[in-house]
Amino acid sequence: MKVVIAVIKPFKIEEVTEALNTLGIPGVTITEVRGHGRQKGHTEIYRGAEYRIEYIPKIRLEIVAPDDQIDGIVDTVVEHARTGTIGDGKYWVVPVERAGRIRTGELDDDSL
Ligand SMILES: Nc1ncnc2c1ncn2[C@@H]1O[C@H](COP(=O)(O)OP(=O)(O)OP(=O)(O)O)[C@@H](O)[C@H]1O
Ligand SMILES: [Mg+2]
Repeated sequence: MKVVIAVIKPFKIEEVTEALNTLGIPGVTITEVRGHGRQKGHTEIYRGAEYRIEYIPKIRLEIVAPDDQIDGIVDTVVEHARTGTIGDGKYWVVPVERAGRIRTGELDDDSL
């Protein structure tokens, strides 16, 4: 098992999760987050004054899945989150040592 973590533009969340559901994923957690990448936020004019927005709102997706589904999940996220402009986001894939379904006690792949 691995977990795919992706940070994407908020307006892309519906398109990405629809595509992931079509692909077939066991589950997903999404969180509203804020962060910055290489540009370290950006500046915006608001009511005539310039504000520096250091942490830009993003959506973080977490999908735990069996190893053989990971490539498909990553490809789907990249295809549907991409606009080609800065701030499109990032993903990283992390091994999962152990997982369980709390209701039944099933473990690992059976629990997903
Ligand atoms: N190295 C990192 N570690 C943790 N989170 C990151 C990292 N890089 C980016 N993020 C998260 O991803 C979000 C989007 O990053 P972003 O797409 O701006 O990356 P970038 O490297 O600046 O690429 P781009 O030049 O395309 O903007 C950030 O707001 C932050 O929440
Ligand atoms: Mg950036």
